[in-house]
Amino acid sequence: MTSTNDIRRGFLDYFASQGHQIVPSAPLVPQNDPTLMFVNAGMVPFKNVFTGLETRPYVTATSSQKCVRAGGKHNDLDNVGYTARHHTFFEMLGNFSFGQYFKEQAITHAWTLLTRDWGLSPDKLTATVYHTDDEAFDLWRKIAGLPEHRIIRIPTKDNFWAMGDSGPCGPCSEIFFDHGDHIAGGPPGSPDEDGDRFVEIWNLVFMQYEQEANEITGELPRPSIDTGMGLERIAAVMQGVHDNYDTDTFKALIAASGELTRTATTGDNQASHRVIADHLRTAGFLVADGVLPANEGRGYVLRRIMRRAMRHAHLLGAAEPLMHRLVPALAAEMGAAYPELVRAQPLIEATLRQEETRFRQTLDRGLKLLDEATAGMTAGGTLAGETAFKLYDTFGFPYDLTEDALRAQGLAVDRAGFDTAMAEQKRAARAAWKGSGAKASDDLWFDLVEEHGATEFTGYAADESEGVVLALLKDGTRVERAAAGDQVELIVNQTPFYAESGGQVGDAGTATTDKGARASVTDTHKHLGRVWAHQLTVGVGEIAVGDAVHLAVDHERRGAIRANHSATHLLHAALRERLGTHVAQKGSLVAPERLRFDVSHSSAMSPADLAQVEADVNAQVRANTPVTTRLMTPDEAIAEGAMALFGEKYGDEVRVVSMGTGASEGEGARYSVELCGGTHVAALGDIGLLKIVGEGAVSSGVRRVEALTGEAARAYLSARDDKLREAAAVLKSSPDEVPARVAALIEDRRRLERELADAKKALAMGGGTGNAAAGPEQVGGVNFIGQVLDGFEAKGLRGAVDDAKARLGSGVAVMVAVNDGRASVAVGISEDLLASHNAVDLLRRAVAVLGGQGGGGRPDMAQGGGPDGDKAAEAVAAVRAALDA
Ligand code: SER
Repeated sequence: MTSTNDIRRGFLDYFASQGHQIVPSAPLVPQNDPTLMFVNAGMVPFKNVFTGLETRPYVTATSSQKCVRAGGKHNDLDNVGYTARHHTFFEMLGNFSFGQYFKEQAITHAWTLLTRDWGLSPDKLTATVYHTDDEAFDLWRKIAGLPEHRIIRIPTKDNFWAMGDSGPCGPCSEIFFDHGDHIAGGPPGSPDEDGDRFVEIWNLVFMQYEQEANEITGELPRPSIDTGMGLERIAAVMQGVHDNYDTDTFKALIAASGELTRTATTGDNQASHRVIADHLRTAGFLVADGVLPANEGRGYVLRRIMRRAMRHAHLLGAAEPLMHRLVPALAAEMGAAYPELVRAQPLIEATLRQEETRFRQTLDRGLKLLDEATAGMTAGGTLAGETAFKLYDTFGFPYDLTEDALRAQGLAVDRAGFDTAMAEQKRAARAAWKGSGAKASDDLWFDLVEEHGATEFTGYAADESEGVVLALLKDGTRVERAAAGDQVELIVNQTPFYAESGGQVGDAGTATTDKGARASVTDTHKHLGRVWAHQLTVGVGEIAVGDAVHLAVDHERRGAIRANHSATHLLHAALRERLGTHVAQKGSLVAPERLRFDVSHSSAMSPADLAQVEADVNAQVRANTPVTTRLMTPDEAIAEGAMALFGEKYGDEVRVVSMGTGASEGEGARYSVELCGGTHVAALGDIGLLKIVGEGAVSSGVRRVEALTGEAARAYLSARDDKLREAAAVLKSSPDEVPARVAALIEDRRRLERELADAKKALAMGGGTGNAAAGPEQVGGVNFIGQVLDGFEAKGLRGAVDDAKARLGSGVAVMVAVNDGRASVAVGISEDLLASHNAVDLLRRAVAVLGGQGGGGRPDMAQGGGPDGDKAAEAVAAVRAALDA
């Protein structure tokens, strides 16, 4: 038996041997088509190559493309489990020619691979062609030698393939395999073609045209080829089975499901095991490509698929969550071909376990309600829409899960009633909204969300994606278009731009269109928590509602924001470790150029604290462990030791970001576990480096730490280094010696200041006026020194008088210091003269001459002053006169 893995490999190898480039599968979330929910055909990633918008270094390619058809236009969900060939996830094998070869070569390749390399009997194969395509008809005769009755002309759209309402398209030719007359059904185009006997295995599309809104608008630059073969179908053919679920890959997954549930995989259980196997693949691949369960958009499609499988696990009697335990079987079957599955295995398992654990909390009660509501109903009956809505709203039953649950009993659901109940709930939510208080603008956002649903954020996984312009707002009013120079708010269906929240600033970047418009996005905000508004300035061209815009987040800026956000989490953990668990986040700013983190802590952090915190964070950065993100309920998150913001209101589902190793508190070995909706680095090494640059008080009991990471930290340290070098150059020393040199210089300066003061004093004493010499004279029978000291500091006056007294031994000294026109005066008298003289009396005479008042001291030393510095000599004379009297 040829395994599915061998068939995939064989297909790619065949086309590689024919000069085709093997191109790995693109992610399931389309990168270049904003109207598509998931990639649903092999040609989707090549759309722009067909239309000539993009060129690649190859002109022929081959791939095995992951596809999901659930939600959106192609939705196979309802049938999965109950038929032989419906899947929500499948692989499409394809070969592509971008203007190199056309019909003849495409048919030759298909025929050669099927009949020569894979040995399928030509008798089992039938081809169809578009009814007017004589060329293809003739080629099938010539190349394959098929008899005319096995080349069937089909006049319907079945043989004219289009990617969607718009995009490349062309007539196609399908190859059918005849599974044999033991199976009911007729060849394509016959009245009983819907039977299962003839199964389409390969579709060759002769891409020639481009269409818009279902109208052909022109020809492609060159005729091209797009083919698609369902891997599951060809595997069934080559493994000699009729049912895709009997092929090796599915058998292995179904066996694992049977083993874990200890149930038979046939009979009544068959559909449930098939649902589980199919949905396991879809869920696994979607999570690996960055989709997580949510209540809107792609995440909701994933949730519907997961919950549908989980109900079937419950039907099989699984008492505990089952799906996550099947992931190893999935990785074993498909991990070699799709390494992303292995890389994401822990995340896939955690996501499935979380979703199933949560859903099981309401599943039983919901099913009980459903049983009660349908008791007494017979086949053909209809469940009230309101009940379906209650199941949805209260018990988390997606609408199609309720439908699926009733299918076995032949019951339907009143969809209109469900929609009415849903609309009523939205109306009530709008009425209850307190929001910004600006009623008119809130109404606008409610209208937008009702018309278009929530904006889907694609920015956790990618920095770029396309979006369809849903609305443009100019000064708060909706407009149809925005021209060059206009500043508007742009609303799209999906965006990679992060909208400001949780301290992280909004993203900036560019928005461009294929029609040549270019605009810059300067900031991004969120309204009602669900609608993203991009602040847009149109530079060139015009952007209109309905346009597809290519949105590109400023990659470097976002990288810096990511680094700062993850560093903030590490800083938080490190501060708690160093300072204690009273440290709680009080606010934060995560911007591209820096981060700011406020915490509750009563005193200043010491340099040693900060140095340790910085070292701890950087040790985590160097360990470069991956950052992981999971969704869980707030209670589970807190049980895992997640740090939540006290008083913050969280929804029933939170995003938990874990990073680093070696937690000091809580379970598990993670360094930091936080509830956070922000964007983070993939691995801690991406932070590069953390440098704390500031710490201070914000308010009582709240400290602010400021830090830089990555390039900003490097630039900061480098600038510091430059300054140090400059200082060293000025000091004529090396950077290492700067501190010692500066200390020595300060010491020198102190010494010089002292010496200078002494010198000034000596100079002043020596050069005084008011007395011919500094030396003593006899006045009134006592020794007397009287001096005017110009420019002498008043605070040294007392010392100068003491010096003079010492020189006199017995006597009276008076000194007047003049500074900036003001005079200070001190009078000193030796002990032995105190019976006859008083320093305070003598001082008063001098002060009076200087125009001052008061002054005082003790009988042996008094000090005062006055504004008339120019009368200094007269003041000395007045004292002398008093002694002489
Ligand atoms: N695009 C075509 C299809 O999906 C052939 O690959 O069928």
